[in-house]
Amino acid sequence: MSATQLLTNATVATMAPGTLPPYGLIENATIAIRDSKIVFIGPANEAPEAASVEDCAERLITPGLIDCHTHLIFGGNRANEFEARLNGKSYEEIARAGGGIRSTVTATRAASEDDLVTSALPRLDALIAEGVTTIEIKSGYGLDTETELKMLRAAKRLEGERAVRVRKTFLGAHALPPEYDGRADDYIDHICTDMLPAAHAEKLVDAVDGFCEGIGFTPAQITRVFDTAQSLGLPVKLHAEQLSDLGGAKLAARYGALSADHLEYLAPEDVPTLAANGTVATLLPGAFYYLRETKHPPVDALRAAGVPIAIATDCNPGSSPLTSLLLTMNMACTLFSMTPGEALAGVTRNAAKALDLENECGSIEPGKGADLAIWDVSHPSELSYFIGHNPLYKRVFEGAI
Ligand code: NIG
Ligand code: FE
Repeated sequence: MSATQLLTNATVATMAPGTLPPYGLIENATIAIRDSKIVFIGPANEAPEAASVEDCAERLITPGLIDCHTHLIFGGNRANEFEARLNGKSYEEIARAGGGIRSTVTATRAASEDDLVTSALPRLDALIAEGVTTIEIKSGYGLDTETELKMLRAAKRLEGERAVRVRKTFLGAHALPPEYDGRADDYIDHICTDMLPAAHAEKLVDAVDGFCEGIGFTPAQITRVFDTAQSLGLPVKLHAEQLSDLGGAKLAARYGALSADHLEYLAPEDVPTLAANGTVATLLPGAFYYLRETKHPPVDALRAAGVPIAIATDCNPGSSPLTSLLLTMNMACTLFSMTPGEALAGVTRNAAKALDLENECGSIEPGKGADLAIWDVSHPSELSYFIGHNPLYKRVFEGAI
């Protein structure tokens, strides 16, 4: 058994479920950590004896932040498409003309696994520098077995390169690869019979995702991918209602999806299906901002129905080249009218739930992993308030500062 460490003299936003007002704030708190777990939180005079003590000088401690939706691994970049959009082309036009996701597929197929790790590290480091301790990373820029597996292996390797937890999501149904033009159903067959089983056999898949959209796949095609995921015992999630309403979110919820993501075009009448199935609504204000979308996700209806709302960077080369979860929190407030308390819940407790990790991290409670962020601020609203200022003081991952 390793020695107990104490973090003393802190203001702690526990973000524990059911704590209201939103942060579950405890002043003058001490946190005790043993064997990479939180074993105590409370007043200093009740804390266990410890081998080391860090005086936090009244700084704020939150759970380590969780970025629950990213496409962190990709080849190349799409600055040329950013320019094209500012010269009048739309995101969908570019995609339909063979650019968009497909141009990243070409670059990702050409990259080696080492290249993918090397190019992702600066993005991962930017997130870690802001207190991220868990990140989800999707495949979906390979669209063939070899490259999808290469992406997932690169994602897994990041866990060895940095002190961070990585969840790997298979997103074979992200776009139709050029070699399957006009044969989308054959590509779905290939995913279900070859790609996904191969990725699963190599233990590279924590969850299965898809893109349900006019420029992605139909609900019927996504259903086949979800049936395969279910037969392999894998949880699902879905990019749904980003650019139009195809009913993807309620389809995902009926499969007990961990999350439905984007949701700008979600019909308020579909919200109860998310609530009934415990599906997290993951909102991605970076993509909303970057595509200059004007339709807002139905935040009031989600809130009223008690759907847990997560927020994430959606870090990707096309619709959200964003590597700041703090800026994402600010955008959730300014663009989606979420409160700073909801924004922090969105990158801690609810993000953990979107990754099926709510028993391991996302709140500060005895028994949870000791993943923490210590901030040079006095109140948690400051984390959403600043733009472009990073007040992280120290980060704790699995008990190690
Ligand atoms: O989450 N919506 C689909 N997938 C990504 C965009 C991918 C891309 O443009 O490269 C997203 O926004
Ligand atoms: Fe995405």
